[in-house]
Amino acid sequence: MALAPSERGNWTSRTGFILAAAGSAIGLGNIWRFPYTAGENGGGAFVLVYLAFVLLIGIPVLLGELSVGRATKLNPVGAFKKLRDSRFWPMVGGLGVVTGFGILAFYAVIAGWTLAYLYKAVTGAFGGEVTAEASTAIFTGLIGSSWVAIILTAVFILLTILVVRRGISGGIEKATKILMPTLFIILIILALRSVTLSGGSQGLEYLFKPDFSKLTGGAIMAALGQALFSLSLGMGAMITYGSYFPDDADLPTSGVTVALFDTMIALLAGVIIFPALFSAGVEPNAGPGLVFVVLPTIFHALPAGGFFAIAFYALLAIAALTSTISLLEVVVSYFVDERGWGRNMAAWTLGLGCLVLAIPSALSQGASPFFSDFFGRGDFLTLQNNLWGNYSLTIGAFLLCIFLGWVWGVDKSVESMELSGHKLKGRVLYSFLIRFVCPIAVLIVLSYIVRGNYF
Ligand code: TRP
Repeated sequence: MALAPSERGNWTSRTGFILAAAGSAIGLGNIWRFPYTAGENGGGAFVLVYLAFVLLIGIPVLLGELSVGRATKLNPVGAFKKLRDSRFWPMVGGLGVVTGFGILAFYAVIAGWTLAYLYKAVTGAFGGEVTAEASTAIFTGLIGSSWVAIILTAVFILLTILVVRRGISGGIEKATKILMPTLFIILIILALRSVTLSGGSQGLEYLFKPDFSKLTGGAIMAALGQALFSLSLGMGAMITYGSYFPDDADLPTSGVTVALFDTMIALLAGVIIFPALFSAGVEPNAGPGLVFVVLPTIFHALPAGGFFAIAFYALLAIAALTSTISLLEVVVSYFVDERGWGRNMAAWTLGLGCLVLAIPSALSQGASPFFSDFFGRGDFLTLQNNLWGNYSLTIGAFLLCIFLGWVWGVDKSVESMELSGHKLKGRVLYSFLIRFVCPIAVLIVLSYIVRGNYF
């Protein structure tokens, strides 16, 4: 049974929405996933393609998802069902719910690492100079222990449950209001320090000077996946957040603001990591551990470095939390709206279920040989990251574009965006991108993958 909109709650203001949506978008995707994916895919050319995808696909899809949410005031499954009474489209919403679950089940593992690093920072581990070797040893020691990895993941999922069970404006909105701006300031300070390290300019060159010979089909796919992942698109998280968007607030401006903020934070993370990496002599293609290994090497180069380390990991953990909240919220809102579950029970049951699914990923970083090289295909966490974070989101975004452009219709979508009377500037452009550019671009990228057998 669907709840009346007032019982579901609403963001209390446009700023509240921007912060909450930015909270969803900004997270480990920007600070952990973006730098290591850019490093694995050759740097500059990847970054350029990623930025193009944000503009051409990310922003239109973000606005589109928000418009669906606001028009229906429902979770992704209910939203599709309400707008198109068929068997197929609600299943697309269902794919989103499953994807949210899949992403949370590996994301929470990395989020758990941030808690361990926070603990280390508090106990003074990063107060003095930390060499790249020492930092690597800290990292591999941490992730290689089964119990530590599982307990950290569990603590993180528990924190997520505790917020989600209280509902949206109670928990999510308040938490984000102060913390996101603080994170931004800390990142700027770290970036200023990093670019002035000796050898740092090499890092900037790596990040911003495109070498197109490094641009493989796999890199283009990764760039699209990263653009969608970072903006929390392709699985209905923004449909869900849009469903709480007040009718009298300016949706187009809010959406674009969120996208720009998110992209800025990713670039800022890159500006911190790559100079530091070249300065410390770490390889850019070090994989998922990259950020965790590189960052501890720069804190001592700052005045009050120990303090910065604590502040940084605390904020990173919080940024991750505002993202895990949005992932669990999608799954919970489906069970609350469509299956009539109580919010509290849904949050606990689904959160704990997700923890069980997260265990293989938690063990895949060295603790269990089986999951660390899953049937010869690499570690389980990376496989999940590709499966849900790249493929599933890409397919979800493609289907959403078809829905927006050809089934529900661009006019209805724009009408929902403009409900408050604030106009969408570039309506023709939106229509062109959603109907033609996005679907065709996604199909081309997917065809690379089929031909190149990247998976
Ligand atoms: N965007 C978040 C990040 O960058 C992760 C995230 C939260 C997400 N909700 C999502 C990714 C929904 C894809 C879909 O860390």
